[in-house]
Amino acid sequence: MRGRWLHNDDDDATVRKIKSFSSNNMNARKKTVVIGGSGLIGKKLVNCLRQRGIAVTAASPSSGVNTITGEGLAKALSGAQVVVDVSNAPSWEDKAVLEFFETSARNLSAAEAAAGVVHHVALSVVGTERLLESGYFRAKMAQEELIKASKVPYTIVRATQFFEFIGGVAQFSTVGQTVHLPPALWQPMAADDVASALAEIALEPPANGIIEIAGPERAGIDELVRRFLAATKDPRQVVTDADARYYGVAVNDRSLTPGADPRIGPTFFEDWLEHYLSQKDVSHAGS
Ligand SMILES: NC(=O)c1ccc[n+]([C@@H]2O[C@H](COP(=O)([O-])OP(=O)(O)OC[C@H]3O[C@@H](n4cnc5c(N)ncnc54)[C@H](OP(=O)(O)O)[C@@H]3O)[C@@H](O)[C@H]2O)c1
Repeated sequence: MRGRWLHNDDDDATVRKIKSFSSNNMNARKKTVVIGGSGLIGKKLVNCLRQRGIAVTAASPSSGVNTITGEGLAKALSGAQVVVDVSNAPSWEDKAVLEFFETSARNLSAAEAAAGVVHHVALSVVGTERLLESGYFRAKMAQEELIKASKVPYTIVRATQFFEFIGGVAQFSTVGQTVHLPPALWQPMAADDVASALAEIALEPPANGIIEIAGPERAGIDELVRRFLAATKDPRQVVTDADARYYGVAVNDRSLTPGADPRIGPTFFEDWLEHYLSQKDVSHAGS
């Protein structure tokens, strides 16, 4: 299922791969800290980096590192050159989520500057500036602004929605036995591909800008959720409603889709779904 990364200009992609391969020995010496290393993306990213021979520390409250209180942060960052922040807020309530991303970004920036970190990579969301009706996206925007204002060289990686998140989208928009969703386009991607892209980007020089990553195909939000519910034998019906909101935000075909030159993950929704269902069968069989 996993293939190579596609790029609008394949020659550039080839060059990037060769460069990344030839600098592998140098990269192995780059100590990398993954903030949120116990999360969905964090675990996969730690594995991807280890497979590339990188010395990685997975850091999060469950391992004694907290970007809000500062607990364990200086020690975790000691000697680190690269930090990848894939943490997420425990509460998405407007005020709480804003406080989380602002405090975390400020504390990380100060700790990274003190530790001499040369590349801060943060995971954000495609279209953040078009989704500011939502408190969550206002918080992600604030996080991005603080990263840009920090002295530490950075790359902000904006990903589209993860396939793993589609069940949550259905849940959020459910009223009784129906799920009300707009037909607006999105271009979601597999969490595995998000992690691979982050591992690649963490080893590149800082872009001091934004890189977008996305899945290989666009579809309506309603359509993919309908396919997901049917495949998982969920009895809920998806009602297509142009006025329905996505997490409380009015969206159109431009809101969630990337711009002209995203890096495209190789995994198609149908392939991800097949794998997801086979894993589900396995876990059911074992329970
Ligand atoms: N969902 C999507 O479709 C989507 C799309 C694009 C981008 N993103 C972005 O992807 C990122 C990661 O999402 P995810 O789903 O992988 O997250 P997740 O599974 O919810 O994991 C959250 C991680 O954050 C850590 N964390 C929580 N509080 C912390 C603190 N005070 N200090 C340090 N770490 C802390 C958690 O650590 P513990 O386990 O120790 O509590 C956990 O490792 C988010 O920033 C999100 O905005 C998501």
